[in-house]
Amino acid sequence: MSGFPTVRPRRLRSTPALRRLVAETRLHPAELVLPVFVREGAGAPVPISSMPGVVQHTTETLKGAVADAAAAGIGGIMLFGVPEHKDAEGSGATDPDGILNLATRVAVAEAGDALVVQTDLCLDEFTDHGHCGVLDAAGAVDNDATLVRYRDMALAQAEAGSHLLGLSGMMDGQVAAIRGALDTAGRSDVALLAYSGKYASAFYGPFREAVQSSLRGDRRTYQLDAANRREGVREAMLDVAEGADVVMVKPAMSYLDVLADTAAASPVPVWAYQVSGEYAMIEAAAAHGWIDRRRAIEESVLGIRRAGADAVLTYWATELAGWIR
Ligand code: PBG
Repeated sequence: MSGFPTVRPRRLRSTPALRRLVAETRLHPAELVLPVFVREGAGAPVPISSMPGVVQHTTETLKGAVADAAAAGIGGIMLFGVPEHKDAEGSGATDPDGILNLATRVAVAEAGDALVVQTDLCLDEFTDHGHCGVLDAAGAVDNDATLVRYRDMALAQAEAGSHLLGLSGMMDGQVAAIRGALDTAGRSDVALLAYSGKYASAFYGPFREAVQSSLRGDRRTYQLDAANRREGVREAMLDVAEGADVVMVKPAMSYLDVLADTAAASPVPVWAYQVSGEYAMIEAAAAHGWIDRRRAIEESVLGIRRAGADAVLTYWATELAGWIR
């Protein structure tokens, strides 16, 4: 009959059972990774005010977080260390008893086979100037001197038992340098997650509080410019050529185009990091009653998966897993 549609996409949306059957993307706990902050010292976990619900654990309270994550069935955790003492070289990063390496041993022992224990491989949590590398005499981040530090950091993390090293410093050649150091040391078993398309982003703001970093200047000489889409894919391809086992795009929600392009081009798994500011935005709006918290969380992570992420790092990993299980 003229004027009325014969093609009716609404038919497949008419019942919950139909919608469920035709869903193109599904969330599963196994593809969620929980970032976890661990600070040096004893005592109670310290809340992070800009990330309500997220805390700095101690190595003691970390055990409970690991147990909860394992019970929720998520895929893994990503550890960040918050040292008491910071210096220009970030010496805590390569100290076998530095907080991140200590926390790794605790997490690996607690997790058993249930979780992939991952570690942030970057100097910014450990340097007093807050940069991801060491500085030259002029105060600029020295790429190649930083690679030397990263190699040592990788060996320390491998020794501590990390299964997958998260290379988040955005130095040129970091994947090849670290792969070489590990292989030479007989640690070809340790896998590398390259933060390839890592953008200089305002959405890392709350993370600075989480790791108590007082960054001097900004990271624009090493992290990608938000204007650039093609360059994000190029970085991923370089990292794959250097031996990355997994590549990542970060942040997630403002970079879904880069994520989709990378997913289309990559022969290795592509992950995305829903960062601290993305978490804070949704929590803040939900706290005001402006959005439905659970729906917003599910929709945001589903969107990241739909754009092409095989797995998602998100501060909601454990809680979200409980909803979707
Ligand atoms: C670097 C690192 C950062 C984040 C993860 N790894 C900070 C930065 O590059 O500025 C940010 C994560 C987040 O904001 O949730 N060690």
